[in-house]
Amino acid sequence: MHKLILIGYMGVGKTTTAQLLALKLNKKWVDLDELIEKQTNLSISAIFEQKGEVYFRKLEHETFLQIIESDEQLIISTGGGTPCYANNHLLLNGVNTKSIYLKASIELIFERLNAGKTNRPLVARYSEEELKEFIAKNLFERSYFYNQATYTVNIESKSPEQLADEIIALLH
Ligand code: S3P
Repeated sequence: MHKLILIGYMGVGKTTTAQLLALKLNKKWVDLDELIEKQTNLSISAIFEQKGEVYFRKLEHETFLQIIESDEQLIISTGGGTPCYANNHLLLNGVNTKSIYLKASIELIFERLNAGKTNRPLVARYSEEELKEFIAKNLFERSYFYNQATYTVNIESKSPEQLADEIIALLH
């Protein structure tokens, strides 16, 4: 295994799970959003605000390629939209990549995002009602891309620890 890519909707725990996996597998962890923020010296929210979403998607694509093309064995956490733009989904099952879709219900995603939407520019402006409707529609549209993952793991009522162990078992 060279690179393992975690994908899924906002709030499903991609970053936490990737960090744990890296610890357990003794591999390096890279977070795509964090790398974009480091390289631009701007927060994701500031990029959306100042440059717009299209600019962010291009940057996200370039940075994703940069990570995939590195020689290191990595555990990669992506942003919720990463596999859904610029043909990024074609990189989920490469010669040296495997991917995991962390799958959750609309209800669980809503609960989590409603509690922490301020630093998520895509959903920050929505009222509770609008948020639920947005998640339902957006998750439906994105599912095609998420379903391109090598493996799918349902996150419902599992701790990050359990999730990481389940993923490790899948890889063996
Ligand atoms: C996005 C998800 C965010 C971040 C950006 C756009 C999306 O990452 O990349 O705000 O399109 O779903 P998280 O999934 O880590 O919140």
